Amino acid sequence: MNLNNDIKKILVTNEQIEARCKELGEQIDIDYEDKKPILLSLLRGSIPFVTTLSKYISIPIEFDYMKVSSYHGGTSSTGNVAVTILPASKLEGRHLIIVEDIVDTGFTLSTVVKILKTYKPASIEVASLLDKPSMRKVDDLDIKYVGFIVPAEFVVGFGLDYNELYRQLPYVGVLKEEVYTKK
Ligand code: PRP
Repeated sequence: MNLNNDIKKILVTNEQIEARCKELGEQIDIDYEDKKPILLSLLRGSIPFVTTLSKYISIPIEFDYMKVSSYHGGTSSTGNVAVTILPASKLEGRHLIIVEDIVDTGFTLSTVVKILKTYKPASIEVASLLDKPSMRKVDDLDIKYVGFIVPAEFVVGFGLDYNELYRQLPYVGVLKEEVYTKK
Protein backbone atom coordinates (compact mmCIF):
# COMPACT_ATOMS: atom_id res chain seq x y z
CA MET A 1 0.00 0.00 0.00
CA ASN A 2 1.28 3.46 -0.93
CA LEU A 3 -0.28 6.38 0.97
CA ASN A 4 0.44 8.73 -1.94
CA ASN A 5 -2.23 6.89 -3.95
CA ASP A 6 -4.93 8.11 -1.52
CA ILE A 7 -4.26 11.75 -2.37
CA LYS A 8 -6.64 13.46 -4.81
CA LYS A 9 -4.45 16.52 -5.35
CA ILE A 10 -1.42 18.21 -3.83
CA LEU A 11 -2.29 21.64 -2.39
CA VAL A 12 1.15 22.70 -1.13
CA THR A 13 4.37 21.08 -2.35
CA ASN A 14 7.39 20.40 -0.16
CA GLU A 15 9.34 23.05 -2.08
CA GLN A 16 6.64 25.64 -1.32
CA ILE A 17 6.67 24.68 2.37
CA GLU A 18 10.47 25.05 2.57
CA ALA A 19 10.37 28.43 0.81
CA ARG A 20 7.59 29.77 3.05
CA CYS A 21 9.30 28.50 6.21
CA LYS A 22 12.44 30.37 5.12
CA GLU A 23 10.44 33.60 4.80
CA LEU A 24 8.74 33.10 8.16
CA GLY A 25 12.03 32.18 9.85
CA GLU A 26 13.68 35.33 8.54
CA GLN A 27 10.75 37.40 9.82
CA ILE A 28 10.97 35.77 13.26
CA ASP A 29 14.71 36.58 13.32
CA ILE A 30 13.80 40.25 12.87
CA ASP A 31 10.79 40.31 15.21
CA TYR A 32 12.47 38.45 18.09
CA GLU A 33 16.04 39.73 18.02
CA ASP A 34 17.41 39.56 21.62
CA LYS A 35 14.15 38.02 22.91
CA LYS A 36 15.06 34.29 22.88
CA PRO A 37 11.49 33.11 22.21
CA ILE A 38 10.14 29.67 23.10
CA LEU A 39 8.61 27.75 20.19
CA LEU A 40 5.73 26.02 21.90
CA SER A 41 4.52 23.25 19.59
CA LEU A 42 1.22 21.48 19.80
CA LEU A 43 1.67 17.73 19.57
CA ARG A 44 1.41 15.85 17.42
CA GLY A 45 0.68 17.50 14.10
CA SER A 46 3.05 20.46 14.35
CA ILE A 47 6.30 18.47 14.52
CA PRO A 48 7.24 18.56 10.80
CA PHE A 49 6.39 22.28 10.66
CA VAL A 50 8.37 23.27 13.77
CA THR A 51 11.33 21.21 12.53
CA THR A 52 11.32 22.90 9.12
CA LEU A 53 10.55 26.41 10.40
CA SER A 54 13.28 26.30 13.05
CA LYS A 55 15.93 25.42 10.43
CA TYR A 56 15.47 28.93 9.09
CA ILE A 57 15.58 30.76 12.44
CA SER A 58 19.07 31.95 13.34
CA ILE A 59 18.50 33.79 16.63
CA PRO A 60 18.58 31.78 19.91
CA ILE A 61 15.31 29.92 20.50
CA GLU A 62 14.09 27.26 22.91
CA PHE A 63 11.65 24.43 22.24
CA ASP A 64 8.76 23.23 24.35
CA TYR A 65 5.68 21.12 23.69
CA MET A 66 2.02 20.85 24.62
CA LYS A 67 -0.45 18.03 24.17
CA VAL A 68 -3.92 19.10 23.23
CA SER A 69 -6.88 16.79 22.81
CA SER A 70 -10.15 17.93 21.31
CA TYR A 71 -13.14 15.82 22.15
CA HIS A 72 -15.00 15.67 18.88
CA GLY A 73 -18.72 14.95 19.11
CA GLY A 74 -18.94 13.16 15.77
CA THR A 75 -17.01 14.80 12.97
CA SER A 76 -17.05 18.44 14.04
CA SER A 77 -15.29 20.05 16.96
CA THR A 78 -17.39 20.67 20.06
CA GLY A 79 -15.01 23.21 21.50
CA ASN A 80 -14.03 21.00 24.45
CA VAL A 81 -10.26 20.99 24.58
CA ALA A 82 -7.91 19.47 27.20
CA VAL A 83 -4.37 20.88 27.34
CA THR A 84 -1.24 19.37 28.89
CA ILE A 85 1.94 21.45 28.90
CA LEU A 86 5.20 19.48 29.02
CA PRO A 87 7.15 21.94 31.13
CA ALA A 88 10.80 22.07 30.12
CA SER A 89 10.84 25.83 30.56
CA LYS A 90 9.35 28.38 32.92
CA LEU A 91 6.93 30.36 30.75
CA GLU A 92 6.55 33.40 32.99
CA GLY A 93 8.08 36.52 31.42
CA ARG A 94 9.01 34.65 28.22
CA HIS A 95 8.08 35.37 24.62
CA LEU A 96 6.01 32.43 23.34
CA ILE A 97 5.36 31.44 19.74
CA ILE A 98 2.66 28.77 19.58
CA VAL A 99 3.36 26.48 16.62
CA GLU A 100 0.37 24.76 15.02
CA ASP A 101 -0.14 22.69 11.90
CA ILE A 102 -3.62 24.03 11.16
CA VAL A 103 -6.17 26.43 12.58
CA ASP A 104 -9.64 25.23 11.65
CA THR A 105 -12.54 26.24 13.93
CA GLY A 106 -10.02 27.99 16.19
CA PHE A 107 -11.34 26.32 19.37
CA THR A 108 -8.00 24.63 20.10
CA LEU A 109 -5.93 27.75 19.67
CA SER A 110 -8.26 30.02 21.58
CA THR A 111 -8.26 27.62 24.56
CA VAL A 112 -4.48 27.22 24.44
CA VAL A 113 -3.97 31.00 24.39
CA LYS A 114 -6.34 31.43 27.34
CA ILE A 115 -4.45 28.81 29.37
CA LEU A 116 -1.01 30.15 28.43
CA LYS A 117 -1.99 33.67 29.54
CA THR A 118 -2.35 32.34 33.10
CA TYR A 119 1.43 31.62 33.04
CA LYS A 120 2.06 35.38 32.60
CA PRO A 121 4.34 35.22 29.53
CA ALA A 122 5.82 38.46 28.12
CA SER A 123 4.01 37.87 24.80
CA ILE A 124 2.10 35.21 22.85
CA GLU A 125 2.04 34.94 19.05
CA VAL A 126 1.02 32.11 16.74
CA ALA A 127 2.69 30.42 13.77
CA SER A 128 0.48 28.03 11.82
CA LEU A 129 1.48 26.13 8.70
CA LEU A 130 -2.11 26.20 7.45
CA ASP A 131 -5.11 28.41 8.03
CA LYS A 132 -8.64 27.40 7.05
CA PRO A 133 -10.49 30.67 7.75
CA SER A 134 -13.75 29.50 6.14
CA MET A 135 -14.18 27.06 9.06
CA ARG A 136 -13.56 29.60 11.84
CA LYS A 137 -15.99 29.64 14.76
CA VAL A 138 -13.90 31.84 17.07
CA ASP A 139 -13.37 35.40 15.88
CA ASP A 140 -10.77 36.86 18.26
CA LEU A 141 -7.75 34.95 16.91
CA ASP A 142 -4.67 36.70 15.59
CA ILE A 143 -2.32 34.39 13.70
CA LYS A 144 0.84 36.39 13.08
CA TYR A 145 2.76 33.85 10.99
CA VAL A 146 0.61 31.93 8.47
CA GLY A 147 2.17 29.50 6.02
CA PHE A 148 -0.71 28.96 3.60
CA ILE A 149 -4.45 29.60 3.47
CA VAL A 150 -6.29 26.43 2.47
CA PRO A 151 -9.90 25.84 1.36
CA ALA A 152 -12.42 23.82 3.41
CA GLU A 153 -11.22 20.45 2.14
CA PHE A 154 -9.93 17.42 4.06
CA VAL A 155 -6.17 17.97 4.03
CA VAL A 156 -3.46 15.58 5.21
CA GLY A 157 0.32 15.41 5.16
CA PHE A 158 3.20 17.39 6.66
CA GLY A 159 1.93 16.50 10.14
CA LEU A 160 -1.79 16.42 9.42
CA ASP A 161 -3.48 13.05 9.82
CA TYR A 162 -6.55 11.05 9.00
CA ASN A 163 -6.98 8.36 11.67
CA GLU A 164 -3.31 8.94 12.66
CA LEU A 165 -2.05 8.14 9.13
CA TYR A 166 -0.53 10.34 6.37
CA ARG A 167 1.44 12.59 8.78
CA GLN A 168 4.73 11.65 7.10
CA LEU A 169 3.83 12.85 3.61
CA PRO A 170 6.26 15.65 2.66
CA TYR A 171 3.48 17.79 1.15
CA VAL A 172 -0.06 18.88 2.04
CA GLY A 173 -2.72 17.15 -0.05
CA VAL A 174 -6.44 16.58 -0.28
CA LEU A 175 -7.56 13.08 0.64
CA LYS A 176 -9.73 11.18 -1.86
CA GLU A 177 -13.32 11.04 -0.58
CA GLU A 178 -13.44 7.25 -0.93
CA VAL A 179 -10.75 6.93 1.74
CA TYR A 180 -12.92 8.39 4.48
CA THR A 181 -16.32 7.28 3.22
CA LYS A 182 -15.48 3.56 2.94
CA LYS A 183 -15.89 1.44 6.08
C1 PRP B 1 -5.80 19.37 15.06
C2 PRP B 1 -4.77 20.42 14.72
C3 PRP B 1 -5.11 21.57 15.62
C4 PRP B 1 -6.61 21.46 15.76
C5 PRP B 1 -7.24 22.49 14.87
O1 PRP B 1 -5.36 18.67 16.16
O2 PRP B 1 -3.46 19.94 14.97
O3 PRP B 1 -4.50 21.47 16.89
O4 PRP B 1 -6.98 20.14 15.35
O5 PRP B 1 -8.64 22.42 14.93
P1 PRP B 1 -9.56 23.57 15.55
O6 PRP B 1 -9.05 24.90 15.06
O7 PRP B 1 -10.91 23.21 14.95
O8 PRP B 1 -9.55 23.45 17.04
P2 PRP B 1 -5.83 17.21 16.59
O9 PRP B 1 -6.76 17.30 17.76
O10 PRP B 1 -6.34 16.46 15.38
O11 PRP B 1 -4.47 16.55 17.14
P3 PRP B 1 -3.12 16.13 16.37
O12 PRP B 1 -2.26 17.37 16.25
O13 PRP B 1 -2.50 15.11 17.28
O14 PRP B 1 -3.50 15.58 15.02
